[in-house]
Amino acid sequence: MGPEKITSDTVRSDFNDPVAVVHYARAAHFLGLWQSERRLIERFFPDRDAQILEGGCGAGRVTIGLWDLGFRHITAFDFAEELLDQARSLAKERGAHGIHFFHADATKLDEAMTNPGSAAVPATSVGVAGGTPALPATSSDPFPPRFHGALFMFNGLMQIPGRANRRAALQQLARVCRHGAPFLFTTHDRNVSARERQAWREEAERWASGTQDPRLVEFGDRYFEDPTGRTFMHLPDREEILADLAATGWERQFDMLRRDIAMESRAVVDFSDECRFWVARRV
Ligand SMILES: C[S@@+](CC[C@H](N)C(=O)[O-])C[C@H]1O[C@@H](n2cnc3c(N)ncnc32)[C@H](O)[C@@H]1O
Repeated sequence: MGPEKITSDTVRSDFNDPVAVVHYARAAHFLGLWQSERRLIERFFPDRDAQILEGGCGAGRVTIGLWDLGFRHITAFDFAEELLDQARSLAKERGAHGIHFFHADATKLDEAMTNPGSAAVPATSVGVAGGTPALPATSSDPFPPRFHGALFMFNGLMQIPGRANRRAALQQLARVCRHGAPFLFTTHDRNVSARERQAWREEAERWASGTQDPRLVEFGDRYFEDPTGRTFMHLPDREEILADLAATGWERQFDMLRRDIAMESRAVVDFSDECRFWVARRV
């Protein structure tokens, strides 16, 4: 029997590892939003009163960035408890008391949302403690789509092993968003450079001969370790994401490589590789 395949438990425990927690907490405290993120949030999320859902919030780097931009109806979730604790304490430290955090796996968002008494569903409000009333539930749908926009930043969606699971997460996010809601997320791109293309041609040969890392789930996956911890990442090509969006209730509105959106600081480039930004609309 070979080594076990990577599962969501592997990914969750890697994110809960102290090395990763320090890395993401530091970024949340000191790095904040990237230029590219800020530009796209300002362009595609013009309404500061919108109910915003952030998936894979980690230690709160983007969550606090949204708060600082003036959003006051933010709901954020992550499945890594340690990172979520960091996000909660940073929000408290920054006086961002209205952000509603809850623990959930993006592929099972409905469980967290429909579970009576779940922290995902505040009794009287979504996003603002004691503020905006929750959208009324109807008897036919106890869980109506309530968010005006969603984000899943810094490739978190691509850290879900298995395409069917990534599609489940996209579907679950679509389920909680209103029609027309923008969804901003990032992915890597296997075709970003000639060097990458060559590396993936070689990886395709390994898959063809069965000599790939046996822990990987699908072609396009990577699992590596560096000083920031262990990382699972699925690297798609553009067609894969277009197909996944179309199959899950989203319509692509925009996509562009980060280098074509903004010139990032050294600190941001050191923190993160090149990626593709996507904006989809809830159909
Ligand atoms: C690269 S980190 C980014 C964290 C934060 N958004 C940032 O930009 O600093 C990806 C995040 O996605 C979360 N994540 C991955 N898979 C998830 C899932 N299935 N459900 C919820 N969160 C998930 C991880 O726990 C991690 O916090």
